Amino acid sequence: MDSAAIKNYIEQNKERFLNELMDLLKIPSISAKSDYKDAVLQTAEAVKQRLLEAGVDKAEVSPSKGNPIVYAEKIISPTLPTVIVYGHYDVQPAEPLDLWDSPPFEPVIKKTAVHPDGAIFARGACDDKGQMYMHVKAFESMMKTNSLPCNVKFMIEGEEEVGSPSLGPWIIENKSRLNGDVILISDTSMIANDTPSIDTGLRGLAYMEVEVSGPNRDLHSGVYGGAVANPINVLCKLIADCHDENKHITIPGFYDKVVELSNAERADMALAPFHLDEFKKDLNVSDIMGEKGYSTIERTGIRPTLDVNGIWGGYIGEGAKTVLPAKAFAKISMRLVPNQNSQEISALFQKHFESVAPASVKVKVTPHHGGEPVVVSTESKGYKAASAAMESTFGKKPVPTRGGGSIPIVALFKKELGLDSILFGFGLDSDALHSPNEHYGLFNYYKGIETIPLFYSNFTNQK
Ligand code: BES
Ligand code: MN
Ligand code: MN
Repeated sequence: MDSAAIKNYIEQNKERFLNELMDLLKIPSISAKSDYKDAVLQTAEAVKQRLLEAGVDKAEVSPSKGNPIVYAEKIISPTLPTVIVYGHYDVQPAEPLDLWDSPPFEPVIKKTAVHPDGAIFARGACDDKGQMYMHVKAFESMMKTNSLPCNVKFMIEGEEEVGSPSLGPWIIENKSRLNGDVILISDTSMIANDTPSIDTGLRGLAYMEVEVSGPNRDLHSGVYGGAVANPINVLCKLIADCHDENKHITIPGFYDKVVELSNAERADMALAPFHLDEFKKDLNVSDIMGEKGYSTIERTGIRPTLDVNGIWGGYIGEGAKTVLPAKAFAKISMRLVPNQNSQEISALFQKHFESVAPASVKVKVTPHHGGEPVVVSTESKGYKAASAAMESTFGKKPVPTRGGGSIPIVALFKKELGLDSILFGFGLDSDALHSPNEHYGLFNYYKGIETIPLFYSNFTNQK
């Protein structure tokens, strides 16, 4: 591999690489909203087109039960290893719109303190269009400089942000063409632009909806208040009781399968740079909160959580209306760690909520999507190839870290295809993924494009 030629090619085509990403970011591929179906399909077509231009042998928009999967491949020799690139072209909804400084689907470049070279502001800039597109441009750069060292398959889906409901069945159906040696994913974060890191794990997820029903209709809170259970009051108490005074989760059996790290492993984790003052300052909070006995890095990396994502019921309009509501609702997610299982945890949650609810209300628990936690060994060939690649381009060995987020399909890649995934993320946690003003640093975008080809050559030469 001629990395100088690749670097030169990137430099020559910098502007176009950026403009193409900006064009992709203009299409509002929001998978959670059915109104955006056309934009979702248009994005899939655009990704396919860009892959063809970049030099794949074939590319298709492959139908699934839900949004299509963009599949493409470049096979140079059956005797060489195959890297399967996974990413997603769908994005989160942009709401709340009034908190964006510029419209979410009209990308603009602005400098920030963290990104002095500029960052692209748009929904999906970091999660995941910007990070996914790095792979397309890295591939183009290898093709155009005659330095692609192995086979490549692209599998870019359009439902990651809604739990990848269709990709699992699609993988099983397409197993015969998904043989490969490693899955490469850029959809996670690193510590900082001067502190590269590679995630060695992802948390799992169990997402639940709870409905608490009281009386058969909304009541006058003066006439009935004090004598009839208020579903919102009850729901708040049920939720508050999910944590004890040490912020330990109280659902019976919740921690039974949690793998505790050894002191040596915890000491290793503590080596990752973390500055509490900066963390608090970035979030504008005067103090942090979490499970007793664990550091912040441990709380987000190796410990499970339970959080309310949304809660509603009763009167929320203008002014005040005195009402004792008939129903209350909450969406509650639990992040899981090895060896918790999302179905088992969902069942424990359901049983717990139904059993502790007072007789004065009815509780209905409906599970939404889930996913299993994963760990990636730093001893795997893929990890070593990724680590060496980052070490070359950043001039520093990346720190192994445990990511707090979830990519549910990763556990299925292991189960169905027997393949490890390398979490080769170049975003930053402060890039506001899922939040207003999401952005992706230009430094990160170009650094990713430059680093990815080194992964390919390291991985190929290792075999
Ligand atoms: N790219 C994120 C996951 C992520 C972000 C992992 C940062 C590590 C660091 C992904 O798109 C995502 O948002 N996943 C969802 C899960 C999904 C089922 C909606 C999540 O983690 O909430
Ligand atoms: Mn993502
Ligand atoms: Mn996401």
